[in-house]
Amino acid sequence: MTLYWNRSVTMSKREAIEQLKTAVRLSPENVPLRVLLADALFEYGLFEDAEAEYENVLVYEPNNAKARLSLARACFQSGKYYKALVLTEDLLKTEEAPGGAWTLHARLLLNEGDVQKAVEQYKKGVAKDPAVADPNFAERLGIGMKNSPVVDGKLRHSTIERTNDSSIVETARTKFADVGGMEDIKEQIRMKIIYPYTHPETFRVYDKKVGGGILMYGPPGCGKTFLARATAGEINAKFISVGLHQVLDMWIGSSERNLHEVFEAARASKPCLLFFDEVDALAASRSDMRQTGGRHIINQFLSELDGVDSDNDGVVIMAATNAPWYLDAAFRRPGRFDRIIFVPPPDLEARASIFRLMLRSKPIENIDFELLASKSDKFSGADLMALVDEAVERKIAEAMKDGIPKPLTTKDLQNAAKNVKPSTAEWFHIAKNYATYSNADGIYDDIINYLKLK
Ligand SMILES: Nc1ncnc2c1ncn2[C@@H]1O[C@H](COP(=O)(O)OP(=O)(O)O)[C@@H](O)[C@H]1O
Ligand SMILES: [Mg+2]
Repeated sequence: MTLYWNRSVTMSKREAIEQLKTAVRLSPENVPLRVLLADALFEYGLFEDAEAEYENVLVYEPNNAKARLSLARACFQSGKYYKALVLTEDLLKTEEAPGGAWTLHARLLLNEGDVQKAVEQYKKGVAKDPAVADPNFAERLGIGMKNSPVVDGKLRHSTIERTNDSSIVETARTKFADVGGMEDIKEQIRMKIIYPYTHPETFRVYDKKVGGGILMYGPPGCGKTFLARATAGEINAKFISVGLHQVLDMWIGSSERNLHEVFEAARASKPCLLFFDEVDALAASRSDMRQTGGRHIINQFLSELDGVDSDNDGVVIMAATNAPWYLDAAFRRPGRFDRIIFVPPPDLEARASIFRLMLRSKPIENIDFELLASKSDKFSGADLMALVDEAVERKIAEAMKDGIPKPLTTKDLQNAAKNVKPSTAEWFHIAKNYATYSNADGIYDDIINYLKLK
């Protein structure tokens, strides 16, 4: 009985979220509505979705202190401690910081093992707003306790967990042939990365400088990671993919050493393609990073890129981000990420070939690929994959009923398309703001052109 009741409550909250999402789609500029949606996502435990939605709110109201705190909380909840820390410290510099910003800071400091400072910040927060007091947390801080876990201002047991496998060396088997469409992007990668690697002598003849990495940006699910992996496959290099958020979070306090280890791992497995995902985690332009430490990590990253202390020969570097606007301009200097590529959603032709690729190992019957492509405008590669998945699941369910597995038809896929919403519109909505208002050095021209063509 209880179980049933719980479930129905959950269902209705979920429905509320869906309704809010629809409402936001209809009036994207309604900020209070977006806040409602973000809060609902947070309460429902969808912290990463809440994070994205609070970021959307801040596009419209960058100084909204409550939203800034909520964003930091969402990051904290999903374990993005580093980002949470940067956001919180930024917020604390302003007059409007609510009491909760101090207590959140206290939690983050405790994570870092800085108990004394955590206690200080916690007390400040409660002084500012008694409502943010949290007895359980105060207990963890050793405030008013006999058996304090804190000895001489240090935790008895570290609360931070560390792991060593922040990077995994892969052997990439994906090739460009597995990537549908995107011919001009593939060509740019060939020129910048593959040919200098396979035909260095030709570049020498023309005294053409080689080196530097490629930074890809664009809406999520459109093949950035996939392309990086395929590039490694093309040159038979090992592939190391590093999520920077993850690196920074796991190693708060020693991120610099960890970054060095990642580069060393790549140098030790030459030839190797080192891929940095979410490179925006080093988001310097958004804030001046943490007063301490932050700048060092960026500098460390840049000098590893430059190969100052080590030899980067045989190490190819690529990076990707969904949020290029957070990136420090220093990354774009020659020899670093000096080639910036916009990876748009697949166009008509690309969608047809992605469908072909995705269906190549499945039973199909007279599929009209061109028709499917024309019915899936604005779909990302990941959306197309979800669509195919949905169709396959239905087919399997049918086969379970009548015992005969039948091939997929155009109709099956069209029906599935009705249930999959394209996910790229939201990104373009945000991107358009940046492209319109902060395109000083023309880096978002590709976005503007793309939107004009649409
Ligand atoms: N052009 C493409 N051809 C084939 N599959 C694609 C393509 N673009 C995206 N996909 C599929 O969608 C998935 C998600 O893409 P991904 O590279 O992770 O996106 P991003 O890194 O841009 O967020 C990939 O794993 C791949 O299966
Ligand atoms: Mg990716």
